[in-house]
Amino acid sequence: MSENAHSIAGQIKARLGSRSPRIAVILGSGLGGLADEIENPLSIDYVSIKGFPVSTVAGHRGRLIAGTLSGKEVLCMQGRIHLYEGYPPAAVADIVKAFKLLGIETLIVTNAAGSLRKEMAPGSLMLIEDHLNLSGFNPLIGPNDDSFGPRFPNMNNVYTPAYRSLAQKIAEDAGITLHAGVYCMLSGPAFETPAEVRACRVLGADANGMSTVPETMTAAWCGIKVLGISALTNYCTGIEGGSPSHAETLENAAKASAGLTLLVKRFIGEL
Ligand code: HPA
Repeated sequence: MSENAHSIAGQIKARLGSRSPRIAVILGSGLGGLADEIENPLSIDYVSIKGFPVSTVAGHRGRLIAGTLSGKEVLCMQGRIHLYEGYPPAAVADIVKAFKLLGIETLIVTNAAGSLRKEMAPGSLMLIEDHLNLSGFNPLIGPNDDSFGPRFPNMNNVYTPAYRSLAQKIAEDAGITLHAGVYCMLSGPAFETPAEVRACRVLGADANGMSTVPETMTAAWCGIKVLGISALTNYCTGIEGGSPSHAETLENAAKASAGLTLLVKRFIGEL
């Protein structure tokens, strides 16, 4: 039932050799810069791993990079898989299941997201405290593999509270503005209409995006701890005159990238 996850894990393990990362990092749109800081890098293109879904969006590079960051071994996904590309949610779950099989204990997920709050300006960062899954998908649908986690997993505190406190402390010490809030996942690929944005606000969202939730839910299900950080790349449609485009998201992701890189590096150093 998890053959593909086992196959992916086996192929990655063979390539890793003596490396044994316990920390995985998923880099969101335009946030690939952190990968350039990895020392002693070993790059594995997704296309070279049989059964690994391949990302197609411009700005997503599509490779795993193993190496060292802040003295710790990491396995980094440069370019993630989005459901709007047409992959079944289970394909995203397979990647996280493969991480679990490789011994990953901590998952750091980053993404580009639209801000629903005036005070959270594009170019700043938001710590994800919780999420709303409005994507219409759930990565855990299907036969349950009990060797990973339970059929009905609890989704309280899926963004590990101790990690949230640590990230906030690091941001404070480093003088990085780190907002905190609820990330709402929509399927995309279209940005929201003004009416949808108003609905998301009423429902309790602080930022909207098209990723992260499938990975986080799968990680929580199989006992991997999660830190989630959004780079706010635009105001959502109708917020402060927002009218997002992919170009705007990439431009502001680049602005947020330095702070995000510093925060994640220090966080890894303190784990
Ligand atoms: N909405 C949804 N997803 C996004 C946005 C947005 O405004 N910006 C970046 N990803």
